[in-house]
Amino acid sequence: MQTEFAAAEIIADASARTLVLDGREAGVVDLADPRRLVFGYMRRIADLIDAFRPAGASIDVLHLGGGACALPRYVDVTRPRSRQIVWEIDPGVVALAREHLGLRAFPRLRVKVGDAAEMIRLRPDRSADLVIGDAFDGPHVPAALSTAAHVGEVRRVLKPTGVFALNVVDVPPFEEVAVHDGLVRDVFEHVAWVAPPGVLRGRAPGNVVLMGAAVPLPLEALRRAAAAAVPREQVLPR
Ligand SMILES: C[S@@+](CC[C@H](N)C(=O)[O-])C[C@H]1O[C@@H](n2cnc3c(N)ncnc32)[C@H](O)[C@@H]1O
Repeated sequence: MQTEFAAAEIIADASARTLVLDGREAGVVDLADPRRLVFGYMRRIADLIDAFRPAGASIDVLHLGGGACALPRYVDVTRPRSRQIVWEIDPGVVALAREHLGLRAFPRLRVKVGDAAEMIRLRPDRSADLVIGDAFDGPHVPAALSTAAHVGEVRRVLKPTGVFALNVVDVPPFEEVAVHDGLVRDVFEHVAWVAPPGVLRGRAPGNVVLMGAAVPLPLEALRRAAAAAVPREQVLPR
């Protein structure tokens, strides 16, 4: 089907549903098991979710980009009383997620149609434990989410111990990652990249998850999880 922003398709394989937007896989959910995250970068963000607060403790999360809403569902099943807001720019994607990807909105999980760059400005200061940047315009982070002003907004809405996790897809020589790294390091005292070794060596294309916080990141737990991942990933403190 054609949504407002993309040609969208859902591919079903047993209990897995893959959302494809303009020919790119934008998310996979397992309707039978919300803990199963198929994309490595989502698993690395889940490692952070698992590590940065005591197990089961509820958290306040802002999701910039909804897609298949795999991560909101992961948070809901692992930290059940968490409060989450998802901003998804494409109303057709939200409709597909509701009809085909098992997305159920309830008071603790609000899915709103809108541009995350604008919606974040309406959020109160110090109100989020975690901001997940996972919005894409084709293969790129949208321009409005790639500015110093936006990263400043992320810092403003995070609680003092909150964390920003940003997914960037890039190819060598990783110019887009470098831009985001600079923006995140200008605003946060503690920054790390998590990615496959070939990506960190600058040899292979892939996803880099940038993490930024005003407090130390849970690097040991992230390292253990990344080392145990198949395929293996690595943590690079900046
Ligand atoms: C990779 S998907 C997000 C996957 C999601 N994190 C999950 O857990 O399944 C990226 C989504 O970002 C949305 N998007 C792109 N630009 C956006 C923006 N400015 N604000 C909000 N959503 C946006 C796209 O429509 C797409 O659905």
